[in-house]
Amino acid sequence: MGRSSPAVVSRTATGASRYTSRSILAAWNPSMPPRQRFAVFGHPITHSLSPRIHADFARQFGIDLTYEAIDANPEGLAEAVHAFFVEGRGANVTLPHKAAAFAMADIATATATRAGTANVLTRLPDGRLEAHNTDGDGMVRDITERHAMDLRGHTTLLLGAGGAARGVAWHLLDAGVGTLTIVNRNPVAADNLADAIGDPARAHTRYWEDLHDIGSFDLIVNATSAGTLGGGLDLPVSIIGSRALCYDLSYGKSAAGFVGWARGAGARYAFDGLGMLVETAADAFERWHGKRPDTDPVYTELRQTYG
Ligand code: ATR
Repeated sequence: MGRSSPAVVSRTATGASRYTSRSILAAWNPSMPPRQRFAVFGHPITHSLSPRIHADFARQFGIDLTYEAIDANPEGLAEAVHAFFVEGRGANVTLPHKAAAFAMADIATATATRAGTANVLTRLPDGRLEAHNTDGDGMVRDITERHAMDLRGHTTLLLGAGGAARGVAWHLLDAGVGTLTIVNRNPVAADNLADAIGDPARAHTRYWEDLHDIGSFDLIVNATSAGTLGGGLDLPVSIIGSRALCYDLSYGKSAAGFVGWARGAGARYAFDGLGMLVETAADAFERWHGKRPDTDPVYTELRQTYG
């Protein structure tokens, strides 16, 4: 499905972008109930694609909403979130706030609880704030459905043990990977994640220094924030197995280093997380609106725009 009309971007008081659609604007009049408000919180947030993705999804169903990008620093997050939810229905939460979002919610889904992080906050009908995490489902669906890869039996290397890694680790196991080797610069965080998973036959840790003689893997997931922070990872080519799929949870410039390394090192497949972003947004959208958007046209258009 193509977009019916170009999106309109306006600036909020915070300088963040707000997306709606011309067709919605044309149809709106003051006697109608106020638009449902949604938002994404992050720091920085200027380049977030979430407002555009949710506007595109809403257009598929003719849903009347606003979706803002709100820049909140860690000290100001709680106040900003609570102010938003006086009226707001739901919010996505991105770096660096996923753990804080989980902590500030009144209740949490099982998926958010095991990850200890949340990327979706929803105001329930009784007023309570619910935390949920759609990262793992979004990543697995992007890999297995969009890229048509079967993860069953894959030996898997998970780089990183922070919030992003915790958001996907259980889903990789649920998707049937054979083993999950967690490697983190700080080994304590890796051990904590493996302990929380509690599946020693499949999930275990190794030291970052061991990467050069750790063997090769079918699936390598970069869940570190190195690319986002502007740094790179010094990874040995030997970790790439003959049928390896390398996947970065981030997209754009943040993923370019790892994806470029993987392609240059001969990985059979190397993907960034743009498709994961669209899938995670679709899960949030369905949670808020009870309707499943078609992600393919949105993904295709973003891929054309962002490479
Ligand atoms: P996120 O929510 O993106 O996961 P996070 O919880 O702060 O953010 O976790 C960042 C992860 O990236 C951590 O696993 C971190 O490793 P440490 O726990 O050792 O800090 C990892 N990371 C960040 N920069 C890195 C780098 N240059 N090399 C290796 N790992 C890095």
